[in-house]
Amino acid sequence: MTDNAQVICLDGPSGVGKGTICLAVAKKLGWHILDSGSLYRITALQVSREFPGQSVYEIDEAQLAEIALNLSVSYEEVNDELVIYLDGEDITELIRNEKIGAQASQVAAIPMVREALLARQRAFLLEPGLVADGRDMGTVVFPQAELKIYLTASAEERAQRRYKQLKDKGIDANLSSLVEELRLRDERDMNRKTAPLKPASDAIIIDTTTLDITQVTNEVMRLVDQRVRLS
Ligand code: C5P
Repeated sequence: MTDNAQVICLDGPSGVGKGTICLAVAKKLGWHILDSGSLYRITALQVSREFPGQSVYEIDEAQLAEIALNLSVSYEEVNDELVIYLDGEDITELIRNEKIGAQASQVAAIPMVREALLARQRAFLLEPGLVADGRDMGTVVFPQAELKIYLTASAEERAQRRYKQLKDKGIDANLSSLVEELRLRDERDMNRKTAPLKPASDAIIIDTTTLDITQVTNEVMRLVDQRVRLS
């Protein structure tokens, strides 16, 4: 039964912290989560495996959509982290690099790929509710959502956060190339014809540039208390 399932949408650009906030809010509410970006990332990974060395633009769009449609993906929450499996293989770390992020935003610009992933995303809506993060959760996938939040932060701040994350993991990174990569991805996500990144007309915008994760989570929970009927 999904008739009474409610949904909260968290949209916004890359690196704004949507994934972390989504997990924290879902945990507080005891709701399901949808990390929609992971589906585009997994599609990009599978494309690179089936067409090694080829750019997304050299591949037939119907073939890309076929890959997106047939992904065998599953998710598991372990110690407050989302573990992602493709055909039973743990690919959580494999899809979290800038290269797959850039390829994901290329496949995500193809309307047939977006269409292929639509029903799969909507199937995540189960009782008691869903916290969904992405770019078009409030505009396309769940336009009926009771609460739509659009998170923003400057590109410099988002790159700084990513830089710190990578350093903490012992991975070498270059701040100015991270800023450049984020800008390129923002530009592609905001300017594509299908489901471009933009706040829904009824979304509440939160600028997180000067806020930490706890402050953003608290603000989202305040809005949930105000606007969502919790049974
Ligand atoms: O959120 P994440 O960085 O994992 O998303 C990777 C890419 O997938 C984004 O840059 C965007 O192009 C695409 N995406 C999308 N629509 C969504 C989620 C992600 O187009 N709902």
